Amino acid sequence: MSGHLPVMLAEVLEMLKPRDGARYVDGTFGGGGYASAILEAADCSVLGIDRDPEAIERGKALVERFGGRLTLVQGEFSRMDEFVQASNAKGIDGVVLDLGVSSFQFDQPARGFSFREDGPLDMRMSLSGESAADVVNGADERTLIQIIARYGEEKNARRIARAIIAARPISGTAQLAAIVSDAQGPAALRLAIHPATRTFQALRIHVNDELGELERGLDAALNILRPEGRLVVVSYHSLEDRMVKHFLSERSTSAPRASRHAPASTPAHRPMFKLLTTRPMTPSAAELTSNPRARSAKLRAGLKLAA
Ligand SMILES: C[S@@+](CC[C@H](N)C(=O)[O-])C[C@H]1O[C@@H](n2cnc3c(N)ncnc32)[C@H](O)[C@@H]1O
Repeated sequence: MSGHLPVMLAEVLEMLKPRDGARYVDGTFGGGGYASAILEAADCSVLGIDRDPEAIERGKALVERFGGRLTLVQGEFSRMDEFVQASNAKGIDGVVLDLGVSSFQFDQPARGFSFREDGPLDMRMSLSGESAADVVNGADERTLIQIIARYGEEKNARRIARAIIAARPISGTAQLAAIVSDAQGPAALRLAIHPATRTFQALRIHVNDELGELERGLDAALNILRPEGRLVVVSYHSLEDRMVKHFLSERSTSAPRASRHAPASTPAHRPMFKLLTTRPMTPSAAELTSNPRARSAKLRAGLKLAA
C-alpha cells in the first residue's frame, strides 16, 4: 500500500508558524505528514486526532520517534476540546485540519472509498456505525435523492437514486459505480470526472457526517485556541470550503454588519479572528504535478484575537 503525500505542507507550516514550547492540535492525523513536519519545525508538542483506528495504530512509530512530544487519540475532531482538556493542556497555539480521507484509506479497496478497484461498500473512516451499504440498500428514494443531490451536488440525483433502488441489493463499489454510470447516460462519459465520482463523494460525506463534524470541529477549535492561536484548514470540495470561509469571515474583523440598515457603530459581533487568507491558497503548479490528489485543495487560515 502506498503512503500519503501531505498536501500543501509548506503553506500549512507558513500559516501555522510552529514555535518552540507551543502546543498544536492536528485534528486529522492521517499518515502523520503534518504532525511530523510541525514537530520537526520547532521544539513543540502535537496532539494528533484521527477517527480511524488504523491511522492511530500506524502512528505509534512516530509517537516513539518524537519521544513524548506527540500524543495520539482515536476519535472525532469535533471532540478536540474534550481531548485537550483530558491532556491537561491550557491553551492551544494552533489547530490544523486536513479534511477528507487519506491515501491509506482511499487506496485500500477493502475500505470501500474508491470505485477504481472493487471492494465492499463500507466508507466508514472510524470502521464503526452505519456503512455505505446500509445507506445504499436501506434508505428510501427521497433520502437517497437528498444525499446525492446535497452532498454530491449531482443534478441527476433522482435518476441515480431510482436506478440504485431498482438494482438492490448492491454489495460492492464496482457494482455501484456501474449502476450510477448507466443511470447517467452517455452524456456523463464526456465529463472530466468519472460519472460515479459525485455519488461516491455524497455517500462518504453522509456516512461520516463530514459536514456536521466540520461545523462542530470549527467551534471546538475556536474554544481551545488561545489568543494569537492559529487555525489552518485544508478542504477538498466546495461544500467544505464554503463552511470554512463563512466560519472565518463571519467571525473576522472584516465581517460586514448584520444589516446595512444597522448604525455604523453597531458591530455584527465581536471579532474573534483576523483572516490570514482573504482568498484561499491553492497548491503550486509543482505540487500539482507531483501529487494530482492535491488538485482541489484550498487552504484558509485565521488568527484568534484576544477577547
Ligand atoms: C487527508 S487525511 C490527513 C493527512 C495528514 N494531514 C497527513 O499529512 O498525513 C484525513 C485524515 O483525517 C481523518 N478524519 C477525517 N475526518 C475526521 C474527523 N471528523 N475526526 C477525526 N479524524 C478525521 C481521516 O480518517 C484521515 O485519516
